[in-house]
Amino acid sequence: MEIKYLSSAPLSSKADLLAIPVSGDPSKDAFLKTVNKELGGQLLKQAKAEGFVGKLGQSCVVYPGKALPCGALALIGSGKTKLSAANARNVGAYAFKAARRLKAQKLAVVLPAASAIDQDTLGQMVAEGLRLGSYKFNKYLSDKGASKNPVKTATIHGDRSLGKKKGAAGPGLKKAVQRGAVIAAATNDARDMVNEPAEYLNPARVASIARKIAKKHKSVTTKVLSEADCEKLGMTMFLAVGRGSVRKSQLIHMTYKPAKKAKKVLTFVGKGVTFDSGGYSLKPSASMVDMKIDMSGCAAVVSSMDAIATIGSPYEIHVITACCENLVSGNAYLLGDVLNAMDGTTVEITNTDAEGRLTLGDALTYAQRKTKPDELFDFATLTGACMVALGGYTAGVFSNNEALAKSWLKNADNAGEDMWRMPLRKKLKSQLKSPIADLRNSGERWGGAITAGLFLEHFIKDTAWVHVDLAGPAFVSRESGATMRGATGFAVATIVEHATRS
Ligand code: BES
Ligand code: MN
Ligand code: ZN
Repeated sequence: MEIKYLSSAPLSSKADLLAIPVSGDPSKDAFLKTVNKELGGQLLKQAKAEGFVGKLGQSCVVYPGKALPCGALALIGSGKTKLSAANARNVGAYAFKAARRLKAQKLAVVLPAASAIDQDTLGQMVAEGLRLGSYKFNKYLSDKGASKNPVKTATIHGDRSLGKKKGAAGPGLKKAVQRGAVIAAATNDARDMVNEPAEYLNPARVASIARKIAKKHKSVTTKVLSEADCEKLGMTMFLAVGRGSVRKSQLIHMTYKPAKKAKKVLTFVGKGVTFDSGGYSLKPSASMVDMKIDMSGCAAVVSSMDAIATIGSPYEIHVITACCENLVSGNAYLLGDVLNAMDGTTVEITNTDAEGRLTLGDALTYAQRKTKPDELFDFATLTGACMVALGGYTAGVFSNNEALAKSWLKNADNAGEDMWRMPLRKKLKSQLKSPIADLRNSGERWGGAITAGLFLEHFIKDTAWVHVDLAGPAFVSRESGATMRGATGFAVATIVEHATRS
């Protein structure tokens, strides 16, 4: 599906479906009044008869016959309040879904009128929504029927005030729409990686995906470190987690270099546990069933690199992910083991299911030593406790640096992703004390997301750092707007925003 921007008048569109977002009462919308006149009053009559009141997710389809060149019109409810970035994206998704229902090949969308965001961002978000809303993980379905995408082109029209007149909205909007299409494509790629079963999406597969992205962009290189390479570097914590699997652990390191001298170095680390059984601290089956998602952080950082290189950034950017499987076998790591981290810290294993912090601890040490970042980020489906704290749609943000935390949260807001700051209370660090080693890898039940964050912070040496626990929003059980059931591709939008704009 091609997504593009056209400055031509929306009512002269010959699309199979022209989608018009409507906020609240359709009879109060100036643009709709014009359309209604063209249709001899039929539009508002039908909207009323169907009880269309412009609520988010509502739609109403009208056939204009000879009155207009488009095949059909769909009013898309955009809610009564001014649109946020996230809801602008949802409106794009609902417009797409209306087109899919009607099997439209050519879709045209008019930008919503009432929004709390600027026109360019609005264009970006609607473009994102169109592509995100078209996502379906149907690779393994024999009958792809209903999930097939009939839409070949989706055209966004910027200016509702034009009616049938000619005009031109700024070049900013055209760029914004392209940006949205690129970000959504990367988000959908991340969704694919996460939705793939662990049998397919193993550490070696992540490496090949990373290599493919590097091949696509001159500015990107990918290095893959084998178990032997990691052993030489002393990454014992990381290797211990993957030891129980026959699939070899791999550390993937991607680098983006800008054309001019880089202003800063940004490093994004993703948790890449391609399957988390819990190890000997085995998860019950019901908690294990979705644990292919434990590489959502990895998927987000790897896919983001593709979008960052396409859009371009003034920064040197690194993506690092330590990929492995946490399984049970005669070779798996044991409770009571004491591991020697890459930075020299000794860690007593009190729970083999607290494996993410072990892989990340070494990955963060590697990230600091090898990339010397000005800003360091990690993304991880790290704790169930973070979901208990914030629910299933909000990511927890932990940081040792006020300014960086602020700018990160602002970018999350601009990108329409739900993140919330959590405290790294030092008092809880006592939970990680061990009588026989420098640290133990699990604490008590209360404050589990924080103790996990504190464990990671132990490995941060004088670097501005943000840790994002996305155990909740990485995966959802219900479709809603631009968020499809299953993997969400969460964090891609904010990573790209931060890497290309801040
Ligand atoms: N990958 C899980 C966290 C998780 C849970 C992600 C649910 C997504 C949905 C992580 O490795 C884990 O098992 N964490 C433990 C930590 C505990 C043993 C200290 C948890 O949250 O129970
Ligand atoms: Mn675990
Ligand atoms: Zn895990």
